[in-house]
Amino acid sequence: MAKTVFITGTSTGIGAACVRLFAQHGWQVAATMRNPADAKFDDLPSVRVYALDVTDGAAVTRVIAQAHQDFGSLDVLVNNAGYGLVGPFEAATDAQIQTQFATNVFGVFAVTRAALPFMRAQKSGVIINITSVGGRTAFPMNSLYHATKFGLDGFSESLWFELAPFGIQVKVVAPGGVATDFATRSLQMTIDPADDSNPYAGQVRSVLNAFSSRSGNASTAEQIAEVIYTAATDGSSQLRYIAGADAQQVLGAKANMTDEAYLAMTQKNFGLAE
Ligand SMILES: NC(=O)c1ccc[n+]([C@@H]2O[C@H](COP(=O)([O-])OP(=O)(O)OC[C@H]3O[C@@H](n4cnc5c(N)ncnc54)[C@H](OP(=O)(O)O)[C@@H]3O)[C@@H](O)[C@H]2O)c1
Repeated sequence: MAKTVFITGTSTGIGAACVRLFAQHGWQVAATMRNPADAKFDDLPSVRVYALDVTDGAAVTRVIAQAHQDFGSLDVLVNNAGYGLVGPFEAATDAQIQTQFATNVFGVFAVTRAALPFMRAQKSGVIINITSVGGRTAFPMNSLYHATKFGLDGFSESLWFELAPFGIQVKVVAPGGVATDFATRSLQMTIDPADDSNPYAGQVRSVLNAFSSRSGNASTAEQIAEVIYTAATDGSSQLRYIAGADAQQVLGAKANMTDEAYLAMTQKNFGLAE
């Protein structure tokens, strides 16, 4: 019988590329997204689209159960839905902070908790949490996004132990820069970088410029989907998959430097120091 993957946030980017790749490999795919009108999978008969906002706990429970009933199994969960909140921490509103965590962290908790009874019953499963290079190292002006991705990284490492006795693998895929809607449509800001009356505006502009000057190094969503597919199917106990040459380079550098040297280098790279 074909295996089933359940993926969150599949309207664009990495999630949409994952839907296509798993379907092309013969999988049954539960493609979930906030607005099903955004789906572009009519050419893929093994894909079913479900409306799901991961911040809606009742919908999470209902949609996981519906997908399990429709497909008869739940073999892989890809927690992909997420977005970046960028800008100085001091300016973030309660609503911005809450929505960032509701989506990137509590959404993952809800979907994972709803999937576990099905995976435990079948004594197998793979849970893949899409974190970021920013779940292992921090860049300036992204404190709240990093808090969510570092949080997911630790959550995943602890769950790895807890679920192993049930035959359930937990994995983290940590991409570097990826050419998706992440830095455009999906990005939220805590300040207007053009507002020179804000004392952080200059720092924010430097950081945004540094990110955009690196955009040529970005991976494609399809390349990250290949890493996710490997994580789903390699049968290994590997916890972390660092996805993209840029992510491997930065984490490799960090591993070989003192914290102080690494922080000073990063400060310089983002135009925040001479
Ligand atoms: N692109 C990068 O450079 C990069 C690097 C490292 C990690 N990541 C991670 O990769 C994941 C996918 O991002 P992407 O690069 O593919 O960006 P993207 O094209 O902006 O896709 C993000 C997806 O998340 C969905 N989403 C946002 N809030 C949601 C919610 N409350 N419920 C359900 N879906 C929601 C969006 O849905 P709507 O269409 O409804 O907005 C969209 O489908 C994210 O977790 C991101 O943090 C991205």
